[in-house]
Amino acid sequence: MKIAVIGGGSTYAPELIDGLIRNAEKIDLKEVVLMDIDAERLKVVGTFCERMVAHAGRKFELKCTLDRTDAIKGSDFIVTQIRVGKQIGRHKDIKLGLRHGLVGQETTGVGGMAKALRTIPVMREIADDAKRLAPDAWFINFTNPSGLITESLHKMGVKKIVGLCNIPIGIIMDLALHLQCDPDRIKIDFVGLNHLGWVRKVYMNGQDITEKIIESLADRKGPANIPELEYDPRFTKALGFIPSPYLRYFYATETMVRNLQSKTKTRAEEVMEIEDALLKIYSDPTQVTKPAELEQRGGAFYSKIAVDLIDSIWNDKREEHIVNVPNQGAVWGIEDDQTVEIPAIIGRDKIEVKPVGHVEPKIFGLMAQVKAYETLTVEAGMEGSYDKALMALAANPLCPTELARVVLDDMIETHGLKLS
Ligand code: G6P
Repeated sequence: MKIAVIGGGSTYAPELIDGLIRNAEKIDLKEVVLMDIDAERLKVVGTFCERMVAHAGRKFELKCTLDRTDAIKGSDFIVTQIRVGKQIGRHKDIKLGLRHGLVGQETTGVGGMAKALRTIPVMREIADDAKRLAPDAWFINFTNPSGLITESLHKMGVKKIVGLCNIPIGIIMDLALHLQCDPDRIKIDFVGLNHLGWVRKVYMNGQDITEKIIESLADRKGPANIPELEYDPRFTKALGFIPSPYLRYFYATETMVRNLQSKTKTRAEEVMEIEDALLKIYSDPTQVTKPAELEQRGGAFYSKIAVDLIDSIWNDKREEHIVNVPNQGAVWGIEDDQTVEIPAIIGRDKIEVKPVGHVEPKIFGLMAQVKAYETLTVEAGMEGSYDKALMALAANPLCPTELARVVLDDMIETHGLKLS
């Protein structure tokens, strides 16, 4: 098996390499190619990954390249984890939102939209390369906003595509910690979009314990990382579902904007500092395993979900994973080619979404509205359409329609976007 990692110079790459080392035999791994456009970064990250692979007994070959076609050619899996505009672009996205009094987070609100519009044209180039050079490869997309970018890849004609996010597994891990049990004993009924999902049911050993969990969340004694602790208890009980942490931006928008405004550094600036420190560690020739400091980045379990998914596909395990995939009729009221984040059965050459059907009105309104925003953004990015981008922003619940035009013009100027 050959895996190409596009954006292989990411400081996350050692996390993925660690998971691949642990599971190399299971997935017949022969070759991993880290590809990046940043030569300096690739050298540091790639050399460190090479040391990790050698230290672990060289179970597969690791190559680094600046040539995307070289990386993609003949791959079985293409992992996309790019950040167009780098952290400085993310910083500008956050500031763009804040100067209009809005959320500029990298995946939600106007920040997510700016990032998507920068990313979609690059994704098209990657998709075109893959069609020519690795037509049977599976795409595993981590590039944020993950669901939206996955939808764009699907609409560019990539047939084998899965978008991944660590939020569903993060919730399972939090619940397991809270209930002091093995995560394998927890099952969740999850529905929504990427960074806009809800756990509708929690099962432990097959028993429905949702009510108990909601009660403990309302009493502020629930799993520590689940954000109901910040909501009004009556709201938590009325909702009756566990919302993804990113729903804070929708359920507590003003508080979140105030929080972002009060911070002396943006998350992008914090991450730049974390990355500088990580790159120093990676440069140390005696460092041969993944450092603990990597955990300061938010991507916990990123490697686990990627490797488990690859294993399920490669070995036709037909396991259930919560993934971003085209809806294919699973959720009523969402088009077949719009992506959703739901459980699916993952096998060798097939993804079968589990039927969801009707989604409760208390969450479906927001889900459908954000989906409309995402799809319009995909179309705007693929067509370079100003009008579609304007309608996308107007549909985004985190941007008042009245501000859409001025924010879009600011976004275009800030990032030199090409929309007409
Ligand atoms: C979480 C999110 C990801 C995000 C990651 C890193 O895992 O689900 O979408 O990329 O955190 O966030 P950070 O702020 O550390 O870059």
